[in-house]
Amino acid sequence: MEIRGLARGLTNYGDREFSLYLRRAFAKSMGFSDAMLERPIVGIATAGGGFNNCHRTTPELLTAVSRGVLAAGGLPLEFPTISLGEPFLSPTSLVFRNLMAMDVEEMIRAQPMDSVVLIGGCDKTLPAQLMGAISAGKPAISLVVGPMMTGSFQGTRLGACTDCRAWWARYRAGELDDARIRELESNLATTAGTCAVMGTASTMACVTEALGMSLPGSATPPAVHAERLRFAEATGARAVTLAHEALTPDRIVTEQSVDNALRVLLALGGSTNGAIHLTAIAGRAGIPLTLEHFNEISSDTPVLVNLKPVGEHYMEQFHAAGGVGALLRELAPLLHAETISVAGETLGERLARVPAYVDRAVIRSAGEPIVAREGLVALFGNLAPNGAILKAAAADARLLEHEGRAVVFRDLADMAARIDAPDLDVEPDDVLVLQNAGPIGAGMPEAGYLPIPKKLLARGVRDMLRISDARMSGTAYGAVVLHISPESAVGGPLAAVRTGDRIRISLREKRLEVALSDAEIAARLAEFVRPAPPRRGYAKLYAEHILGPERGCDFDFLTVEGQG
Ligand code: FES
Repeated sequence: MEIRGLARGLTNYGDREFSLYLRRAFAKSMGFSDAMLERPIVGIATAGGGFNNCHRTTPELLTAVSRGVLAAGGLPLEFPTISLGEPFLSPTSLVFRNLMAMDVEEMIRAQPMDSVVLIGGCDKTLPAQLMGAISAGKPAISLVVGPMMTGSFQGTRLGACTDCRAWWARYRAGELDDARIRELESNLATTAGTCAVMGTASTMACVTEALGMSLPGSATPPAVHAERLRFAEATGARAVTLAHEALTPDRIVTEQSVDNALRVLLALGGSTNGAIHLTAIAGRAGIPLTLEHFNEISSDTPVLVNLKPVGEHYMEQFHAAGGVGALLRELAPLLHAETISVAGETLGERLARVPAYVDRAVIRSAGEPIVAREGLVALFGNLAPNGAILKAAAADARLLEHEGRAVVFRDLADMAARIDAPDLDVEPDDVLVLQNAGPIGAGMPEAGYLPIPKKLLARGVRDMLRISDARMSGTAYGAVVLHISPESAVGGPLAAVRTGDRIRISLREKRLEVALSDAEIAARLAEFVRPAPPRRGYAKLYAEHILGPERGCDFDFLTVEGQG
């Protein structure tokens, strides 16, 4: 007989009947009737808390999901997991993504649920939940909290967080004073929900829908929109059906659906972080997503979505313009139509239902793209033997076929101490280089968007070529090469670069090079001393097992490959 519901995964007292009897007794202490305890159980993973502004609506989403589960004949049981509120974590939220993924995986596996709803959204939460759920192997469905609405301030529309950065750059350039930047600060993030632009959270919400792990149409309704609650209710109801059908993530996350998701990531002009997270999610399903394959897909995928930071609009406009469905319809000739989603239908069936309406100011046609191809690309060369990432669509094109003199900062502290120094020897055509900001060096902070030195800002310079092993916020922009691998803290070639070296980038050739011979790089690296690793706790586990960004920064023992 199939074991399900409360009888799943019994606590081990050496007597199965006793274990079930005891579990039922304690479940009844919560007031559940026998009839309720006979139902399929839908776990609802929540990741809210006082340190996560984006997940402020979790309680009402939980109520709506539970309503859907109950109406469909299931028993909803909430369980909390770690919450990762992007701006509240030190040193970075990425460091804790795998910890959250382990939490989600183990709690799905350990508790008696037949399927699970994952309520998340803020940057790392959604990838962490998907990674954990795929590894746990029970039917799972994502529900994102939805994006913030924009605000307005003295005639200017504001949305977190591209505008946060644009206005901060103007403040640094002396265009507004302390009082005005403080006033602005109160108007950047004015509702619940995830960042209002095509940052990492929005990118991953759309990627999740394209992957088939959330209900069609559910990625884009704003957090405070009634549609969000209707999707929550529908998600709960669908989770009950998933439990009956045993539709597990391995049937949804396939090589083909990962390619579809990658197409969407690229067509969105999505976050560079999306490349790391999608690679990690695919890795949990045993699908290697290499940077070479990334470039293959990028070579004929147009950028179609006119949202900040690549374009001009915000998530609320993307939703009103037709959302992910309209985008998928534009990309249809490039997609695998036979993939299935948690809704139980194929992509082809879904596309046949997508309404004809689309706002072309926000979602371009494939014939009139914002960028014809290669919005995001991987670069290789003697500076990045394992690859690096460039968001070409969000950069000053002039800087993408460029050679310049390196101005090197050996770590974040060095950069903070010197970047605005009046005596910093730097010119607009130089290349700013940040070392020791990779996954092991510093937890891979979103510091790859190095600030333009104040003295150059004052001269009107707004973009420069910047390279590092760090990440960049999905809401940021500029000629910024990121994720250089191997990272400098493990003795990658980036550690060999010195101020005055010549650095060359070519988007056309997909190259990133330093004008040094292999022998010179080897000689310089021979002097490299690897910093002492942490000695205890999660930091030790992280330092010993984190993979490079080209492998999704997952832990080696959590990927399918790592399990041998
Ligand atoms: Fe949560 Fe931006 S801070 S998505």
